[in-house]
Amino acid sequence: MDLPVDVDCNLMIDRVIESRRSIRKFKQEAPSKELIEQILQAGLQAPYASASVSREDFRRFIVIPRESKATPQIAAILKCKAEVWSKQMELQMHHDEFTKLHAGPFLERLKLMGEHGVPNMGKAPYYVVVAEQRGIPPVEHLSLAHCLQNMWLKAAALGLGLQLLSLTQQLDTDKEFCDLIKIPIGEFVLDGCLIGYPDMKPPIPKRPSLDQVTEWIN
Ligand SMILES: Cc1cc2nc3c(=O)[nH]c(=O)nc-3n(C[C@H](O)[C@H](O)[C@H](O)COP(=O)(O)O)c2cc1C
Repeated sequence: MDLPVDVDCNLMIDRVIESRRSIRKFKQEAPSKELIEQILQAGLQAPYASASVSREDFRRFIVIPRESKATPQIAAILKCKAEVWSKQMELQMHHDEFTKLHAGPFLERLKLMGEHGVPNMGKAPYYVVVAEQRGIPPVEHLSLAHCLQNMWLKAAALGLGLQLLSLTQQLDTDKEFCDLIKIPIGEFVLDGCLIGYPDMKPPIPKRPSLDQVTEWIN
């Protein structure tokens, strides 16, 4: 027989998980520093690879408010990175069958970002970069994903919107960017997101039913 559950807690977590969405349009109004700190705290609570990290500050958060004087420079770095990456990917498509078959839709998006800049960068109230110490085994990107998921769920619980900005991952070897965010180049991997009040209610994205994707091997 199943053990008794905390019904309220269970309902609450289901509600938060179901309400979490990718938000790609933000209100002008900025959430308070206190709300952002609650989201960062949730990220800090996420699991980390204790065997891989050695620094006390194995995870760091860099908050760049829209009005920061660094924002235009960061937007330019991201735009340039998208342009360079899209050109590399186009070249790669000539000799790599997998890239040729699968890169199409992503490449189109990358090209657009290379031409016009990253959507919402400089529009959303906050750009948050999360840095995780590199180690052996090299699981730092997994730790970042756990961290961002906690942040995303907390943002949803607070009625805030979050958009992942995965292009940030490409910047851990960019000296200009690492200097700007005060992260020692080579020691951390990066990921990032935009945060603000949602100004959209996205439709529910298509997902397979649980039956379709689950196998019980008895
Ligand atoms: C690893 C990963 C990277 C993602 N990167 C981006 C991104 O750079 N920009 C973006 O707008 N959404 C990004 N997304 C969000 C997905 O597009 C989104 O989660 C998916 O379409 C499902 O929608 P939902 O988040 O509203 O459930 C990413 C999601 C994952 C898991």
